[in-house]
Amino acid sequence: IGGASGTTSLRIVNAEHASEVFHLIDTDSSGHICSTELKEVLDRLDVSASDEDAEALFKFLDANGDGEICEDDFLSWYQEAASTVASETSAVRQALFGRRTVNSFDRTPVPDQVLRNAVKAAVSAPNHKMTEPWRFIRLGNETISKIAELNSAEIAKKDPEKAAKKKARWEAIPGWCVVTSRKTDGGIQEEEDFAATCCAVQNFQLSMFADGVGTKWTSG
Ligand SMILES: Cc1cc2nc3c(=O)[nH]c(=O)nc-3n(C[C@H](O)[C@H](O)[C@H](O)COP(=O)(O)O)c2cc1C
Repeated sequence: IGGASGTTSLRIVNAEHASEVFHLIDTDSSGHICSTELKEVLDRLDVSASDEDAEALFKFLDANGDGEICEDDFLSWYQEAASTVASETSAVRQALFGRRTVNSFDRTPVPDQVLRNAVKAAVSAPNHKMTEPWRFIRLGNETISKIAELNSAEIAKKDPEKAAKKKARWEAIPGWCVVTSRKTDGGIQEEEDFAATCCAVQNFQLSMFADGVGTKWTSG
């Protein structure tokens, strides 16, 4: 964990911090940021910006168009950007803290777009060596019944009553998404792939929560 390099990860700031950043960019201490200093800081932050991008950003920050970014221009932009990031951060936290496992579902159809959002969130999960080991399979009614049957047959070996109840409960759940993680050599890569798939499932659930849809993660 550390300070992030890149423009999308600004810390929540106060005016003093914003001013400190301004003076770090203003390397010749002129009291203004010139276009060269702006380009240099983008390079230092590893932001892949073309000269045109840097110029466009410079024009945007140079609110009064005098060819220099003064401290006031910079402070107002920086604080606005920071507060946008802060509010997005709080939306993320709301989802993290608000999501709970749901056990009873109604039959309101889940729009395809909501499912697509969730899969998009899922595949944004970190995955070592970019293996993208996950697969998401939306089940139809016939397969839901078969899976409920399979699960119930396993439980029935020990507890037939519990098996019947569980089968009825599973068949009543209207939407199912099976998530698989690729199997390789049973070694570290496979473990890391599984870990990445678990991150993906969490992202999937958080996205569903953000779209007002309840989920339950079940391994059986
Ligand atoms: C890998 C994994 C497997 C789970 N399997 C089951 C399960 O088989 N049955 C079940 O009732 N809940 C299952 N859960 C859900 C947990 O029981 C649930 O997340 C936990 O009770 C905490 O509740 P919360 O999700 O509301 O925070 C599973 C969760 C995870 C992460």
